[in-house]
Amino acid sequence: MAALSGLTARPASQAARKICRDACAYANGWFIMPAPLIFVLNGPNLNMLGTRQPEIYGAQTIDDLETECAETAEGLGFAIDFRQTNMEGELITWIQEARAKASGVVINPAGYTHTSVALMDALLALDIPVIEVHLSNIHKRESFRHNSYVSRAATGVVCGLGFAGYRLALLALSEILEEEDDDQ
Ligand code: DQA
Repeated sequence: MAALSGLTARPASQAARKICRDACAYANGWFIMPAPLIFVLNGPNLNMLGTRQPEIYGAQTIDDLETECAETAEGLGFAIDFRQTNMEGELITWIQEARAKASGVVINPAGYTHTSVALMDALLALDIPVIEVHLSNIHKRESFRHNSYVSRAATGVVCGLGFAGYRLALLALSEILEEEDDDQ
């Protein structure tokens, strides 16, 4: 697969030709199509990374995390939309937005992981892969963190690996989306 800036060139399958007829430039059996967009969504208090319980969440900031995700995404041929909010409703609105715009979602729902049926319902309504990420190992911590409503809607879960968890989540999405492409 060859990557141009923000664009990915792939051999064009019949199915891909049909889907992309209107949206993509096509020449000599190859499509130039926009890089798949991944939403990277972060929930409450993650804006405090670097100062919030650094012994658990580390010393790096959310800006550092965004930079790492952007670099990883570029290497995988993805575009990312990286966001953080302290509001449950906003997170749900973004998940609904992902339905129309994104090829996959990486989400660290933070405290809402353990409380939000509404967030789980929003994710269950998506038909794109979702990877749930936690910086800390939630299973090693207080028992109320052991349950994740979000996991019921997630394709996969990564926890306890710090920022590397986000990189692994993006890598997993790349493999899942490639497999989906091959199946078409
Ligand atoms: C977290 C784990 C949650 O239990 C906690 O409420 C967070 C962060 C993590 O990334 O380890 O805010 O999602």
